[in-house]
Amino acid sequence: MTKNAHPLSPSSTPPPDASPRPVETGSVIPMRSARPKVAPNVVAITSGKGGVGKTNVAANLALAYAEHGARVLCIDADLGLANMDIVMGVAPTYTAAELVRGEVAVEDVLLAVHDGVWLLPGASGQYDLANLSDVARRNLFSAVDSLDDRFDVIVVDTGAGVGTNAVGFASAAKDIVVVVTPEPTSVADAYGMIKVLVTRCAVRRVKVITSMVASTAEGDQVFRRLASLVTRFLDASLDHLGSLPRDPALSRSVMRGDPILRAYPDAPYSRAMRAIASRLVQQDDVDDRAGAIRLFWRKLLRQGGRP
Ligand SMILES: Nc1ncnc2c1ncn2[C@@H]1O[C@H](COP(=O)(O)OP(=O)(O)O)[C@@H](O)[C@H]1O
Ligand SMILES: [Mg+2]
Repeated sequence: MTKNAHPLSPSSTPPPDASPRPVETGSVIPMRSARPKVAPNVVAITSGKGGVGKTNVAANLALAYAEHGARVLCIDADLGLANMDIVMGVAPTYTAAELVRGEVAVEDVLLAVHDGVWLLPGASGQYDLANLSDVARRNLFSAVDSLDDRFDVIVVDTGAGVGTNAVGFASAAKDIVVVVTPEPTSVADAYGMIKVLVTRCAVRRVKVITSMVASTAEGDQVFRRLASLVTRFLDASLDHLGSLPRDPALSRSVMRGDPILRAYPDAPYSRAMRAIASRLVQQDDVDDRAGAIRLFWRKLLRQGGRP
């Protein structure tokens, strides 16, 4: 299949529909696709430090992909601070915790949160991928495996920090996106995270979003600082996907329980996020992801969620 024919190709972009509509929740999962089978792309959002805006990046990136016509699954894999449900404005009945215990089917856990976007909610501190029993692993693996032809993109919010499950989730994805802010601690911790991904998980390419910046010039400067460390000390290449401005509308959208892309579609953050999503869509190499989802889960389960 040629790249242009892919459903995520920019040429098939429908105009974004930003009109407010009620949040629809339920257990309906997308139909199996009549489109030719292409494995979904797995994009992991991670960071060295918490509180840099990762969960909002994951949620709004999912919505931006959906504006391109993609069917997107968001997995809340931040096992410490699972809060994608709050950003998405939904109150899940079941979470991944009941799924891995085999108490519910994946259809009962998934929530249709927005047009084209489904959420597999996480559960803070309730389960630990690193210590799943064999049965629990099988439950999780087969549940997500059964979904692989129903989604075009899987966005994983992995949580932050080296030495956590975040590293395992991130290293197993095809696209690894590290979110970094201008604070020196954030840059230092982003470098630490990338170092672990490169030295322990053989990752060679990392994508970077600079966030909470005052200007694109500041975003570029933060990226250059991080890139100079990486190119000096590590055998890896970094790609700057773009900058997200510090935008007071973001916090308002979280208070409303409506992702900023929908709540304030013309806010500077929303515009910048759409540009970043378009860049990811353009970079997506369909040929590069044959079996990407299976590989993702195999790698993840083999390492027990650990680097
Ligand atoms: N670009 C931004 N502009 C303004 N505030 C932001 C921005 N990104 C994040 N924030 C603030 O930081 C808070 C934490 O964001 P969140 O996405 O939950 O971070 P993380 O998942 O990395 O811990 C948000 O609720 C919001 O108030
Ligand atoms: Mg978070």
